[in-house]
Amino acid sequence: ETTRVLRQSSNAPSRAPSVSGIGAVVEKPDYSEAKIVVAMVGLPARGKSYLSNKLMRYLRWLEYNVDVFNVGQLRRSKARDQMQSGQGKVDHSATYFSHTDAKATKTRELLAEESLESLITWLKKEGNVGIMDATNSTFDRREWIRNRISKEPNLQLLFLESFCDDPQVIATNVALKVQSGDPDYKGMSREDAERDFRKRISEYERVYQTITEPDISYCRILNVGQRVTINRIQGYLQSRVAFYLMNLHLKPRSIYLSRHGESMYNVEGKIGGDSDLSPNGWRYAQSLPALVKDNIGDGPLEVWTSTLQRTQQTGSFLPFEKKTWKSLDELDAGVCDGMTYEEIEEKYPEDYESRDEDKFNYRYRGGESYRDVVVRLEPVIMELERQENILIIAHQAILRCLYAYFQARPQEELPYIKIPLHTLIKITPMAYGCHEERYPLPIEAVDTHRPRPSKAKLASGGASVPEPEIIPDLTAKRDYFGNAHGIGLRPEAITQALENQVEMGQLTPKAASKE
Ligand code: F6P
Repeated sequence: ETTRVLRQSSNAPSRAPSVSGIGAVVEKPDYSEAKIVVAMVGLPARGKSYLSNKLMRYLRWLEYNVDVFNVGQLRRSKARDQMQSGQGKVDHSATYFSHTDAKATKTRELLAEESLESLITWLKKEGNVGIMDATNSTFDRREWIRNRISKEPNLQLLFLESFCDDPQVIATNVALKVQSGDPDYKGMSREDAERDFRKRISEYERVYQTITEPDISYCRILNVGQRVTINRIQGYLQSRVAFYLMNLHLKPRSIYLSRHGESMYNVEGKIGGDSDLSPNGWRYAQSLPALVKDNIGDGPLEVWTSTLQRTQQTGSFLPFEKKTWKSLDELDAGVCDGMTYEEIEEKYPEDYESRDEDKFNYRYRGGESYRDVVVRLEPVIMELERQENILIIAHQAILRCLYAYFQARPQEELPYIKIPLHTLIKITPMAYGCHEERYPLPIEAVDTHRPRPSKAKLASGGASVPEPEIIPDLTAKRDYFGNAHGIGLRPEAITQALENQVEMGQLTPKAASKE
């Protein structure tokens, strides 16, 4: 019998009640009492927006309702409205940011107030974490925020300071600002824009007071990854935020995701299990070192696999350090493990239907739901944030969950993300979002992706759906077959894959040379 277990009331994300033996749609824990204002602190170009967005992405992945209230964006949208209504262009050059100009200071204060008020209204109504992305760079400003929040009995306040004195990081942030088509610098040359932005920074430097107030809750991050100071962290959610921030770094690196090579169960259409690779799966395993080497060169790399044979076999030819994680094992299909989808539909029709209706929330009888997998992957994410280049060889459901974290994919989309076999996905964290490249190897494999049925639930359960941060760049070059020697796949990897196929008798040497 299928049951629907509705919202549990708990502030911390308790696991849903045990429903072993029956399949169930288990909805998200009740976070309605978790309400925190995170007020950013820091000079311009210190990565405040980077941290705000990253924190938002992480907490949304964990199903908290999070939004960023960016005072700069509010300022720009007001200026746009003013211009459109014929009241003329607003001057947002460095003079607007002068701290000796009383009028400009007042305007900025009113803007900060308006932004904080809309944050509070949203938080009281539906949000869990409202991030105020502004400089909040003086004792007085912080004192004002504290007074305002103290009037709200159910809201907590956490300051998050990004302190950065690394000239290279600052220069990168300045360049990003002026090159990103920021409306503040529309119509200006890059040199003029940069000069003006640096002047704006110096306006703030004149009055900047780093956090030293002993009685407030804060995290102070020095050069993201170098040092974190925390003070008066209260409760579960604040500790979780602090812990996450402690693990971040900015070193350039990539995360590679690959499913195991095609397995015997894949060929038979069965789910779960611990079967061996199929002959095609072994071919993929043999081709993987060349593909990885093309990408990584002699750079450092660690390979993470699950405890299941098919991932370890896939990684077996890779000459890198390996780690095995139980948390990377495939979604546990409980009593359905080892069955085909057709068998499940026949034996457990109600379960089959429930899963189709709400795949993220559906928990297999005696097994797991996608939500359970997200919860068990959280330590993996934390460790991933600490590391440099990592190749994860895992499974369809697992990689969907990890991918959704990096690419900010909403929950209802997550169980349908396409992670094909015999494809290496490279994810490179950038200042805003992640670059993605896909390298499909020309080695045949079954398609295990089941499209979303029309009855599938579409609305997200409360949390606002984040916009995927897709950087429009390499997507057009992903397909190997359409673009054999483009960026999608390096020639050495293709050669290696084709040679393997000749060796296994899958291709004739003539056909291979034609390819
Ligand atoms: O079919 C391969 C597989 O990894 C199964 O072991 C697993 O149950 C399934 O994919 C997960 O995908 P879905 O959630 O779409 O059924």
